[in-house]
Amino acid sequence: MTERAPLAMVVAIGDNGAIGKDGKVPWRIPEDLKHFKNVTMGHAIVMGRKTWDEVGRPLPGRRNLVVSRQPGLVLAGAEVFPTLDAAIAAARTTDAEPHVIGGSTIYEAAMPLATRIHLTEVHRKVEADTFFPPFDRSVWREVERRPAETEGVEFVTLER
Ligand SMILES: NC(=O)c1ccc[n+]([C@@H]2O[C@H](COP(=O)([O-])OP(=O)(O)OC[C@H]3O[C@@H](n4cnc5c(N)ncnc54)[C@H](OP(=O)(O)O)[C@@H]3O)[C@@H](O)[C@H]2O)c1
Repeated sequence: MTERAPLAMVVAIGDNGAIGKDGKVPWRIPEDLKHFKNVTMGHAIVMGRKTWDEVGRPLPGRRNLVVSRQPGLVLAGAEVFPTLDAAIAAARTTDAEPHVIGGSTIYEAAMPLATRIHLTEVHRKVEADTFFPPFDRSVWREVERRPAETEGVEFVTLER
């Protein structure tokens, strides 16, 4: 068995695997935004440059690390890294469990490294152009599932 250092992913997924549409999240669920804040607060958060653009500002109380191939890119309030591995290595210098917050390309690259997934299931069919990468659910243990107060939303934690 591979020993992995702790690495979390945080994602909200529609029934069809949807995570994004036109550069945005395809729903607005205040309870999930609160959940996201609780889960990520105090952690180093690692994201792709497009997700950074969508968020639009550094998230307070968290170290913001952005992955981009653009040489010399400078972002106010974030540290920029040319590879996901470099971002995760830097994140680990201050956080034993960095949190990867998307988007699709970053989730896909981080999947083999992840040890925990904070998954918000959004039981809605939505139009999307960005999807969570397919993954082998059988290697993950569902350690928590609780319904949100919001209709059709569940908070799930997977670990391996
Ligand atoms: N539902 C959710 O929980 C959730 C969470 C996060 C995001 N989203 C949605 O997902 C969508 C964005 O996802 P996305 O996949 O299009 O974009 P993304 O992963 O956020 O960002 C992609 C960018 O990251 C950089 N990048 C990616 N892989 C890299 C690598 N291996 N090395 C260096 N740089 C790399 C590149 O930036 P440069 O172009 O600057 O080189 C690339 O264009 C949006 O719709 C967003 O709302 C949803």
